[in-house]
Amino acid sequence: MSRVLNGIVAVCPDLGIGFNGNLPWHPVRLSNEFAHFRRMTSTPSEEGKKNVVIMGRKTWFSIPEKNRPLSNRINIILSRQCKAPPAGAHYLASDFSAALRLLDTELSEEADQVWVIGGSSLYREMMESPATRRLFVTRILKQFECDTFLPEISEDKYRLLPEFPGVPQELQEENGIQYKFQVYESV
Ligand SMILES: NC(=O)c1ccc[n+]([C@@H]2O[C@H](COP(=O)([O-])OP(=O)(O)OC[C@H]3O[C@@H](n4cnc5c(N)ncnc54)[C@H](OP(=O)(O)O)[C@@H]3O)[C@@H](O)[C@H]2O)c1
Repeated sequence: MSRVLNGIVAVCPDLGIGFNGNLPWHPVRLSNEFAHFRRMTSTPSEEGKKNVVIMGRKTWFSIPEKNRPLSNRINIILSRQCKAPPAGAHYLASDFSAALRLLDTELSEEADQVWVIGGSSLYREMMESPATRRLFVTRILKQFECDTFLPEISEDKYRLLPEFPGVPQELQEENGIQYKFQVYESV
């Protein structure tokens, strides 16, 4: 079944997404940015269904324990090493295709939108997939030290949408850090 694959990420100007297992701007909290993430990933398009978040093992463990699993969403963790889902996670998949297969089998009745929420290699797989893709990017307009990066968003493969329902267009600022929301769609 063909589904839209949604990716959501917050990036520094150099496309950095993480540092030392955390967000680059840690310990600064961008609460409204996080609320945007929560709203976008949690809101199903069909009542009675749930969205799915797919993430790598390190991203799962970067979420504070009290916030795991991400609420009102089906949490799928990718790992080649784990034999069972980490405590609190709903499903384990050994690769990206296995995660997508779950959506068409066990989760076919329950699952609505699919959201890839990191890290690097998962964003790469999602961005290179033949499916229709949308990338919800928060451009953090300040550079922090980073050791984990988003692949380049190629202009040949993605177009920046002029607007998207529910995504604010104006410049945001929290704790002295400016950022803006962007949405790209595969061409
Ligand atoms: N800024 C943002 O929006 C954002 C979003 C997400 C994460 N982050 C940050 O990014 C960092 C974590 O990302 P990361 O790239 O280092 O790690 P990650 O992708 O979250 O996790 C890597 C691990 O996930 C598993 N994995 C990944 N791809 C897989 C695949 N295709 N098939 C099977 N297993 C797969 C492997 O687990 P095993 O080793 O168990 O096999 C791999 O070692 C943290 O600093 C986090 O804070 C930032």
